[in-house]
Amino acid sequence: MEARITLLPGDGVGPEVVHEAAACLTAVAKAYGHRFHLEEALIGGAAVDATGDPLPAATLARCQASQAVLLGAVGGPAWDRHPRDQRPESGLLRLRRSLGLYANLRPVKVHPALEDASPLRPEVTHGTDLMIVRELGGGLYFGEPRSFSDERAVNTLPYTRTEIEQVARVAFELAASRRRRLVSVDKANVLETSRLWRQIVDELAPSYPTVQVTHAYVDSFAMALITRPRDFDVVLTENLFGDILSDEAAVLAGSLGLLPSASLGGPVGLYEPIHGSAPDIAGRDAANPIGTILSAAMLLRHSLRLETEALALEAAVDRVLKGGHGTSDLGGLKHQHGTRALGERIREAIRPPRAKGA
Ligand code: NAD
Ligand code: IPM
Ligand code: MN
Repeated sequence: MEARITLLPGDGVGPEVVHEAAACLTAVAKAYGHRFHLEEALIGGAAVDATGDPLPAATLARCQASQAVLLGAVGGPAWDRHPRDQRPESGLLRLRRSLGLYANLRPVKVHPALEDASPLRPEVTHGTDLMIVRELGGGLYFGEPRSFSDERAVNTLPYTRTEIEQVARVAFELAASRRRRLVSVDKANVLETSRLWRQIVDELAPSYPTVQVTHAYVDSFAMALITRPRDFDVVLTENLFGDILSDEAAVLAGSLGLLPSASLGGPVGLYEPIHGSAPDIAGRDAANPIGTILSAAMLLRHSLRLETEALALEAAVDRVLKGGHGTSDLGGLKHQHGTRALGERIREAIRPPRAKGA
């Protein structure tokens, strides 16, 4: 097949990890006989420096004209004092909103070779395989009114029935195709938005009779997530809770650099690692590219419907980790590599399709 994919490297380690993931996409295309047209565009601080706008109109137009977008990360100390609409992060938020992306899928798996990379004991993390479904288009991130002055600042947490229903349906459907367990995480003992959230999840439940639904409060769930992670399959939650819980879940996997994401809901999907621009290690060939490479695999699966190719890329990552290869954030692995060398190893581990009849 032919596909147009926009690359948004962004800031900090973003360009380093996107370079490796893009090279993996090219390798998959070559092995499986596809043509991917990869085009770069500016976002974040890099775009602010070049144009004054963290999401230039040309970037948005290019994203809208492609089938999928692969993003690295945005942000960094250089732009932290800019007014809100000239901050790198607001470019990313506007991109998510403009593309109509309301469901952010953040899978968390514990690879057997990495059980010692986590500060948590292997008997706790072993076999963890969960999917966080984070609402991405609403909540505190976008709620009005919002304001700032030296004496008082305001943010607002609104959710509409439609916003809750559409993301909840994604979570129910995923649960039905997985281990059929859904936990909806909220703060319904305090927040009206959460009460509505809980009510709507309960209203939808009878339409998904195979799925067993439970509710949890976000504070106690934050503890349960790292004390009994195997108990969870699909985790549905609102925007800010999902942001926080997914970084926490990275501790299960062994490093924040490992976790991918897919943002869905509109005609163009956005794929990005869950980590940020990691200014402390940027430019040192030290960032783990796996979160971005696995995001590229999600892009193959969700936007291009190339399941076999997605599995081939995931299997390549698996093989490399199993062989004890990784970046330095993965602690005790036998073979430590830089970003580029690990990316290359993963590319070389991609197996071509099996011959027919084999
Ligand atoms: P961060 O995720 O950038 O880094 C947190 C820690 O994890 C750092 O110690 C970093 O070195 C490490 N880390 C992150 N990615 C890694 C990787 N691939 N390999 C190895 N180690 C990795 O979070 P932060 O430091 O709080 O934020 C830095 C900047 O990134 C801020 O400007 C923030 O707004 C931005 N940010 C952007 C995104 C995004 O673009 N989606 C996400 C989160 C944070
Ligand atoms: C993420 C990031 C972003 C978010 C920031 C940079 C806007 O933390 O993708 O997890 O909060 O969604
Ligand atoms: Mn985050």
